[in-house]
Amino acid sequence: VIILRSARPEDAEQILEIYRPSVESTPITFEIEAPSVEEIRQRIQDISIQYPWIVAEDQGEILGYAYGNVFRARPAYIWSAESSVYVKKNSQARGLGTQLYRKLLELLFEQGIFNVIGGITLPNEASIRLHEKMGYRLVGTLPQIGFKLGQWWSVGYWQLELRPASSLGGKSPPGIAPPSLLK
Ligand SMILES: CC(C)(COP(=O)(O)OP(=O)(O)OC[C@H]1O[C@@H](n2cnc3c(N)ncnc32)[C@H](O)[C@@H]1OP(=O)(O)O)[C@@H](O)C(=O)NCCC(=O)NCCS
Repeated sequence: VIILRSARPEDAEQILEIYRPSVESTPITFEIEAPSVEEIRQRIQDISIQYPWIVAEDQGEILGYAYGNVFRARPAYIWSAESSVYVKKNSQARGLGTQLYRKLLELLFEQGIFNVIGGITLPNEASIRLHEKMGYRLVGTLPQIGFKLGQWWSVGYWQLELRPASSLGGKSPPGIAPPSLLK
């Protein structure tokens, strides 16, 4: 059985091995050299203070993960978060990305987030399908914005409105709650 739970620092090795191929041989992430296990451990710890970082686990094996993160650091952006998702190669196209994103979005909603943004290096059919299936819509593309693996890549931004911004009638939105832990 596959369970969804919050990531732990000890998951860093397995998370890095899922992430590594995207760094080393694709433009999916604009990171160019694979981070160390220690660096991933630190990211899990730092991000988990503010956003959910969840993994899909099958009897000790991590098959995929998803997390929220700061979209832009300036304070007025606090109600908007970025989302990321990675599924292990041999476990892709079996619904895991969908399960992970569904839970991630539920947790971000609970925190009080209004908007979630996914940046997708183009092309990436699987990722576009997943984001659109969850309700994200393409809001803009930055053409030829990153150079990796000998060529320029464009990034499309997909946005999901988790709750309507118009519902406040000019009042400030409530603060963002800490993420809840999934045991
Ligand atoms: C993108 C990714 C996270 C999707 O996760 P997944 O577990 O493979 O996705 P799911 O099985 O939940 O499928 C989600 C949708 O995408 C479609 N899809 C999955 N793989 C696909 C592929 N290779 N080509 C086209 N569509 C695909 C599925 O059919 C499904 O749509 P549907 O329900 O309408 O049929 C996964 O493919 C992955 O990790 N890719 C490498 C890393 C990456 O690109 N991450 C996103 C960075 S922006």
